[in-house]
Amino acid sequence: MSTTAGDPRVELAERIAKLKQERKAVILAHNYQLGEVQDIADFVGDSLELSRRATEVEAEGIVFCGVTFMAETAKILNPERTVLIPDPLAGCPMCDMAPVEAVRKRKEELPGVPVVAYVNTTADVKAEVDICCTSASAVKVIETLPEERVLFLPDKNLGLWAQRHTEKEIILWPGYCPTHQRILAHDIHRLKDQHPEAVVIAHPECTPDVIDLADEVLSTGQMIRWAREAAAREVIVGTEVGLIHRLKKENPDKAFIQISPLTTCPNMKLITLEKVMWALEDMRHPVEVPAEVAAKARRAIERMLAVI
Ligand code: 13P
Ligand code: SF4
Repeated sequence: MSTTAGDPRVELAERIAKLKQERKAVILAHNYQLGEVQDIADFVGDSLELSRRATEVEAEGIVFCGVTFMAETAKILNPERTVLIPDPLAGCPMCDMAPVEAVRKRKEELPGVPVVAYVNTTADVKAEVDICCTSASAVKVIETLPEERVLFLPDKNLGLWAQRHTEKEIILWPGYCPTHQRILAHDIHRLKDQHPEAVVIAHPECTPDVIDLADEVLSTGQMIRWAREAAAREVIVGTEVGLIHRLKKENPDKAFIQISPLTTCPNMKLITLEKVMWALEDMRHPVEVPAEVAAKARRAIERMLAVI
């Protein structure tokens, strides 16, 4: 954490470290979290890495710094452990675009078609589908299915990107990420005029016209690994702004340029240091998933983890 003497955030971070020990808890954070939250986490990663890490936790409790579907996934994989989310209002609007009733109805319309759900779905929806995927694993998951047609939900942009890499027919769902949807092709043209040598990396939640202009299309975890290896000195980062904190921290000799001033996910930013401290102080807010839903949802998540 970059701090100055007397910075109250240092005291907050120290208090969180002490509470974490007392509570025997581990802090997991998504790459889109505020920099100061990433800095106090035991592990920072993308959705796939966080799902995997959640299966390996030995601590008694998990404080999940991310949005609710991620904390639910951690709880589903760790039913015996306490999973806390520092702000239960940190939802994901893309998840809300696939309500469980609508998913059930669409399944009825498509008998025999397997359903692949991006992890950005509620536990109820995960319980209805055949297999989950993350942005890093969508193509691989789809390819493992024996059927030639799949229903993919909820992100139409990730579905369209996966369609470029598979012969199978992907039936799309009309969901999207409002944060990535705000990234425009125009943003790339403008920045490329200013930084002609810069390499453009984009998340597959971006729209197809943005994907067409990107040099690399990567999940957030893949972006982190790519940046370590890449020869590029300047990189235009086509995803949520939180990732730039980690990119800069790990690659101080490279320049990372925010693709648009609008790439903040307000839900991810609901998690603050204060709320992490309160979560540990008062053991709030525990994530609960009904046992029957969790058992079905776990099958879809574990099936994903087994094939990638
Ligand atoms: P990844 O971290 O898997 O790339 O996912 C991005 C995302 O939008 C999470 O909400
Ligand atoms: Fe949902 Fe998009 Fe925010 Fe990720 S970045 S939590 S997909 S709204």
